[in-house]
Amino acid sequence: MAAGYRILPEVFDRWQSSYGADFTTLILPHLLSTLNQFGCPEKSLLDAACGTGTLVLEMASRGWAGGGIDLSRGMIEVCRKKSIPPGADVWFKRMDMRAFTTPSPVGLVTSLGDAVNHLLTIRDLRAFLSSAFRALLSGGLLAFDVNNEWCFRNLWKGSSTIRHKDFTMVLENSYVPSRRRALSRIHLKHNRPGPRRAAHEIVEERYFSPDEIRRALSAEAYTVLHAEDFALSSAPEVGKPKTWWVARKA
Ligand SMILES: C[S@@+](CC[C@H](N)C(=O)[O-])C[C@H]1O[C@@H](n2cnc3c(N)ncnc32)[C@H](O)[C@@H]1O
Repeated sequence: MAAGYRILPEVFDRWQSSYGADFTTLILPHLLSTLNQFGCPEKSLLDAACGTGTLVLEMASRGWAGGGIDLSRGMIEVCRKKSIPPGADVWFKRMDMRAFTTPSPVGLVTSLGDAVNHLLTIRDLRAFLSSAFRALLSGGLLAFDVNNEWCFRNLWKGSSTIRHKDFTMVLENSYVPSRRRALSRIHLKHNRPGPRRAAHEIVEERYFSPDEIRRALSAEAYTVLHAEDFALSSAPEVGKPKTWWVARKA
């Protein structure tokens, strides 16, 4: 991981909502229809690189047990401050998605919001898939989205500014196709006075081709069930910047 998501956790949910809805709200219909279509052996999940934990809590409100892991200390702190649905069996822990464990095997492993693109080598991708395989029950599902090549080439360029009442965020994005590396230089300025009024962070992502992902899944003995480009908005001009992958532990 290039940067540690040090300054983003505090503003992450407000930043995401400034696009209209947070990523979990946008991706949830894809996940629920995947579960409907392919079935899952048990209503238990592990969300790898869970960010602020929204997916785990959403699933808990639908009767799922499970946990979220993230490498960022700040993200895990935000997760733990959120209110848990009454009676829900939910946990959050700081762990690396390349080497995580679960207290007991789960029916579903997810990794959403292009978290998989934060793995910068095939070796790291394989390490994540292998941890997920060990965490899954037999017949369990793995579902994740990645930013595809169209996304990096068309959307990771130039700069954009997000003006929230509490902060201003400037993102300078770039992508180098020959290296398959994308960078987002993030400048955050809080509107409130204080010692840490301005802060900066770099998020680095890698493009994995469909062939690379398919080969990595097969090498870990998953069966690929689904791989499809999709858009989060219905507007045609937005294109299909993401690919939705679903695989089963046979
Ligand atoms: C773009 S955010 C997505 C968060 C969340 N999944 C969502 O959909 O809102 C990417 C997340 O990946 C986490 N991350 C990056 N590399 C990681 C690693 N090696 N292990 C665990 N988490 C990692 C970051 O800390 C961050 O929370």
